Amino acid sequence: MDEVFPQISRRPRRLRRNASVRALVQETRVTVDDFIYPLFVREGEGAGEPVPSMPGVERHTIEGLVAECRAAAAVGIKAVALFPVTLVELKDERGTEALNPDCLVLRAVKAVKAAVPDLVVITDVALDPYTTTGHDGVLNAAGSDVDNDATVEILAKMAVVQADAGVDWVAPSDMMDGRVGAIRSALDAAGHTHVAILAYSAKYASAFYGPFRDAVGSQQAAGKSYLDKKTYQLNPANPRESMVEAALDIEEGADVLMVKPAGAYLDILCQLRQLTDLPLAAYQVSGEYAQIHAAAEKGWLDYAATRDESLLAIKRAGASLILTYFAKEIAEEQA
Ligand code: PBG
Repeated sequence: MDEVFPQISRRPRRLRRNASVRALVQETRVTVDDFIYPLFVREGEGAGEPVPSMPGVERHTIEGLVAECRAAAAVGIKAVALFPVTLVELKDERGTEALNPDCLVLRAVKAVKAAVPDLVVITDVALDPYTTTGHDGVLNAAGSDVDNDATVEILAKMAVVQADAGVDWVAPSDMMDGRVGAIRSALDAAGHTHVAILAYSAKYASAFYGPFRDAVGSQQAAGKSYLDKKTYQLNPANPRESMVEAALDIEEGADVLMVKPAGAYLDILCQLRQLTDLPLAAYQVSGEYAQIHAAAEKGWLDYAATRDESLLAIKRAGASLILTYFAKEIAEEQA
């Protein structure tokens, strides 16, 4: 044999021989410490409502949300991101309800912090759950586009109201120019220097958000036409533009940068990893979650294997934090 193949001096397969060896040389691991668990909250009492396009995901009542957060913390989840389903009658063109200190999501924040004080609670800073248009900001006088500066003014106030309610991190997901700086100044001026900013720095105008928009009702607000956010969210064709956005967010004081969606944007994560030493987060969005469920339901993909590989790829590309709807079930399996 040696005479026949003397040239094969390096045999990398030696390090793949069995499970023990493979574990020793494994380069990337997804653990419960990586996860931020996104959760939906609605008004009312009792049980949650299932979200049809996101199997296993519910719109929780505050009571149900608290129970879910306790259960998540019990299996080691460190952070949750809360998204409200706002009653239609509370929506208006300016998203006024976002500034109500007693709004649904802030009642939820208080209940969760009271029940599970060590759980890091994160809220979104964007107006889409609150506007009749479903947009992340307020429209200009002509109604032709989202007005950047008018929106930033509201978002800065919104972040302060959220910090007043006790959130640990605020997460601007709106993609307005200058919002990270404005939010940082407003938080500091209000004495919330300890509240961190998780900036959605590279948030793409993606079709993968569809199920989320069903879950929070922002698509219904916009009516039948597909909600177009292309004047503020990034063009999926542009990797370099996300580096410009990230550089601005770093300069303006972001603590953690996020790429969204995750799976189809691993190149962006990887490039951002080279650009900054800040922690990086990635959001495995609703459409990514729904795809895996739908294919597994048809028997076309192995559910757990596909799920785990999708997360491993996100971690491998450079994310140290992963927002995923799979968080709790994986934590339960690892616990
Ligand atoms: C909006 C927001 C969106 C998501 C999180 N925050 C959707 C959008 O931009 O319309 C999507 C998350 C997901 O799809 O899971 N501020």
